[in-house]
Amino acid sequence: MDIPQATEPYSLKAHNSLGLEAFANRCIRLNNSASLYGLSQQLTESPRCILGHGTNLVIQGTAANPLKATVILNELKGIVRLPEQADGRPRIRCAAGESWHAFVMWTLAQGYGGLENLALIPGTVGAAPVQNIGAYGVEVADQIDAVHAWDFHQRDHVVFENADCAFGYRHSLFKDSNVQGPWNAPRYLITAVDFRLWSGSKAPLRLAYAGIEARLTALGIDHAPNPYQVAHAVMSLRREKLPDPEQEPNVGSFFKNPVVPKPFAQSLTTKYPNLPCYEAGDQSKLSAAWLIEAAGLKGWGLDQAGMSGRHALVLINRGQAKAADVLAVCQGVQKKVMGQFGVWLEPEPLFWPGSQAPANDSEPQS
Ligand code: EPU
Repeated sequence: MDIPQATEPYSLKAHNSLGLEAFANRCIRLNNSASLYGLSQQLTESPRCILGHGTNLVIQGTAANPLKATVILNELKGIVRLPEQADGRPRIRCAAGESWHAFVMWTLAQGYGGLENLALIPGTVGAAPVQNIGAYGVEVADQIDAVHAWDFHQRDHVVFENADCAFGYRHSLFKDSNVQGPWNAPRYLITAVDFRLWSGSKAPLRLAYAGIEARLTALGIDHAPNPYQVAHAVMSLRREKLPDPEQEPNVGSFFKNPVVPKPFAQSLTTKYPNLPCYEAGDQSKLSAAWLIEAAGLKGWGLDQAGMSGRHALVLINRGQAKAADVLAVCQGVQKKVMGQFGVWLEPEPLFWPGSQAPANDSEPQS
């Protein structure tokens, strides 16, 4: 049986975009899905966790007290075209360990639309469905046909159709299975994702999100943009607004935009008319970045970690941050925003060990 090489103890600093110096007591590189059965047998009952590019994670293990788990680095690679179906739309299967942005650029180079608004999001293809990545009015779930995974319980490959993935705002069945169970016993390892895209000229472009049309105009693209040009506008906006993880290590948005009952949102927007507020089913979604900035916390922080001065929602490693510094900043923001607006901000990244967000020990929002 082809079991991938194991090493121990292992620094995860190069495997998390916050750049935290974190250690696990064992690490395995997975580059062949045929080895999953053998790996499952080897890891029976053993703690495990699955890592892509670590762009949505706060890892807490130290050299003296490493994560007590085998970290599986998902390095499965490969992109294949699937046979056409009656609707004539291109269908692509992409292995989970491919880089998300490189895959988006590959689809655009083939002349396929659908993923252009999601250009430049850090991370792997396999991580994309876990938190249903989204940007500029599009969520990845809109273009997913099916998700292929290894089920550690059944020790077999399983396929989830889109409707079975429980996709929601920054949410899916796969995130649930990580968050609800123990942090070190995820049930599913995503091996590949099937996408249903559009042949370029047929792609229904989504340009309504603030800033895209203006940026296209600024780039000299005044009418009938193609998906590649939309991606270019999105990349230009992201580079301007969001700190680059290579320069200032971060995990993108550190907090989710809070979804609150409509009457509560109305009371806040009456008091603060500039607070952005969007429909979210029968509830309302508020802008976490606005709340953080209005609480005076944009650019606020401690020596080693703090909120970005460029985008209020992004928490930055300012140098040698440890997970404890990140948690202290996170809790400082949560408490101040709660005190001022009565809204508890929930972190977007997962936490290892624990994968639980810090608890709300303040007054509940009404
Ligand atoms: N705003 C501020 N201060 C700031 C930044 C923004 O007040 O420093 C306010 C502005 O009013 C702005 C509003 O917040 O109009 C919304 O800002 P933005 O367009 O940047 O969007 P966001 O809601 O803060 C979400 C996603 C981002 C995604 C952008 C663009 C979440 C948690 N974040 O941010 O996703 O790129 O929309 O679509 O939903 C990520 O998840 O890592 C991520 C970067």
